[in-house]
Amino acid sequence: MAKTYLQKQPFCKTSLAASYTLYESETSVAQYCDAHYGPDKLGIANFPAHMAHLCASAMLGKPKRSALDLGCAAGRASFELATCFDQVTGIDFSSRFIEIASRLKERGSIGYRLIEEGELISDHEVLLSDFGLEATAHRVTFCPGNAERLDIHCHCHDLVLVANLIDRLSKPGKFLSEIHKLLVVGGLLVISSPYNWLDHFTPRQQWLGGRFRVGTPITSLVGLKKKLAKHFDAVSEPQDVEFVIRKTARTFQHNISQVTIWRRVC
Ligand SMILES: C[S@@+](CC[C@H](N)C(=O)[O-])C[C@H]1O[C@@H](n2cnc3c(N)ncnc32)[C@H](O)[C@@H]1O
Repeated sequence: MAKTYLQKQPFCKTSLAASYTLYESETSVAQYCDAHYGPDKLGIANFPAHMAHLCASAMLGKPKRSALDLGCAAGRASFELATCFDQVTGIDFSSRFIEIASRLKERGSIGYRLIEEGELISDHEVLLSDFGLEATAHRVTFCPGNAERLDIHCHCHDLVLVANLIDRLSKPGKFLSEIHKLLVVGGLLVISSPYNWLDHFTPRQQWLGGRFRVGTPITSLVGLKKKLAKHFDAVSEPQDVEFVIRKTARTFQHNISQVTIWRRVC
């Protein structure tokens, strides 16, 4: 087994607010529109659709009244969840993402512009009906919001999806220790993350894992289990799901998220 070494990293004081502006940028919005509604890339299936299907399978035989998609970005997983849940709420910190997801819901189409190479760009339009999602779109509500400052005491959702968000939070441990309050007892929490910890999103001392504690290497999965143990049981073994972000026509970011599914037990 490969040995794990401690990589020394200076603590970076970049403002969290400034780093969130990444997700307000034109480039980021276009890349996520493409990741959510564009063609599959590198032979890898659409990530948010795949996540929604995993959620639907895990929810078989359970009540599907309400689902929450935290960090919904351009909204694909929310629209997919609406095919089997009565109501879905998609929340994102970025007002640009909420705007684009809401526009898709209201008008049934969105346009976005991708970089091909250098100064060359291409225009794209997608329709909700291309994915058979238009008939249930009315069940989705998109709201701007901070997942770390939610009115968290509703105990009302049957499913909470947290896809590729925890390594973008300033205090993921605190977020996880409170998230049970959003779910009914018996409800499912589905988390995916590539555990790509970066100081400018999450101060190093708040990382769930990927670092040493008292000389022992701690993985993010171990940190995650510890934070959820009080209120959740693991439903299945962790699984890997890939996703791809297209940067240009010839440059792609290939990520592997670890998906874990949890049942609220108390
Ligand atoms: C890596 S993207 C993942 C998007 C989507 N869930 C997916 O898997 O394609 C992270 C998303 O979380 C949003 N986000 C970051 N911090 C947030 C916070 N504190 N509250 C709500 N959304 C947040 C970003 O705006 C961005 O849309």
